[in-house]
Amino acid sequence: MTTSILLLGGTTEAYALAESLVADTRLRVMNSLAGRTTNPRLPAGETRIGGFGGIEGLADYLRQEGIRAVIDATHPFASTMGWHAAEACRSTDVPLLRLERPAWVAAPGDHWESVEDWRAAVEVLERSGSRHVLLAVGRQEVAPFASLDDIRFLIRAVTPPDPMPPFRSAELLLSRGPFDLDSERRLLDAHRIDTIVCKNSGGEATADKLVAARERGIRVVMRQRPQRPRLPLATSVAQALAWVDGIRG
Ligand SMILES: NC(=O)c1ccc[n+]([C@@H]2O[C@H](COP(=O)([O-])OP(=O)(O)OC[C@H]3O[C@@H](n4cnc5c(N)ncnc54)[C@H](OP(=O)(O)O)[C@@H]3O)[C@@H](O)[C@H]2O)c1
Repeated sequence: MTTSILLLGGTTEAYALAESLVADTRLRVMNSLAGRTTNPRLPAGETRIGGFGGIEGLADYLRQEGIRAVIDATHPFASTMGWHAAEACRSTDVPLLRLERPAWVAAPGDHWESVEDWRAAVEVLERSGSRHVLLAVGRQEVAPFASLDDIRFLIRAVTPPDPMPPFRSAELLLSRGPFDLDSERRLLDAHRIDTIVCKNSGGEATADKLVAARERGIRVVMRQRPQRPRLPLATSVAQALAWVDGIRG
């Protein structure tokens, strides 16, 4: 008999986990993507795209599809989906695992300012005298910074903000990670960056900007991860696979 698993994805870890899970022919692997990107890369297994319609919608989906386990492998900052999954799985009695890459941790020589939201990040920029800022916060989250007229922003994103908020001085750099250390060094130097604003996404693909910042004594305004429900946690694909083995018995 096959066991149906729902994998809430959109992350590197989710793609890797799907790849491993489909090797087991006793599993039916259903991936779920939010649908934010047009033409997303499709993971291994089956894929559905788009929201479920809140907690109730997800609970209905779990019942209808006979889902036996859910793995929430969404991005650390996609917390709404995490809370919805926790509530829907609780009400349908379906086991739920959180797969999450570890957060970045400041090392000696780092100049990090931790903030809980973008409002606090704006305050840091105002009081610290930043002039050339690399904004790597995601295209949908740049708007709170547009009020800072004295700063020249370099906005790095995969696709352009739409609409583009009315920045007085901003350059858009469209590129997708991973970014290597040498190119991060060149970028910071070429734009005379004195501050980086980013989220604590963790992982390797975008971590080298932090190394380059450390080397140069550049300030990093780091947004902390939002709270998520308390759940069984895997920090690697191997741990998630072991959990699936346990569920199947
Ligand atoms: N936030 C980030 O910084 C970030 C970065 C990289 C990738 N992502 C990926 O982009 C997706 C959306 O992120 P977000 O921050 O907008 O999420 P979010 O705020 O946690 O979720 C908002 C709504 O989007 C839908 N949704 C989110 N993830 C979904 C999934 N995997 N499958 C089906 N529906 C999903 C749900 O709609 P319903 O309530 O209708 O079910 C959810 O309530 C996530 O899957 C995440 O892994 C996010």
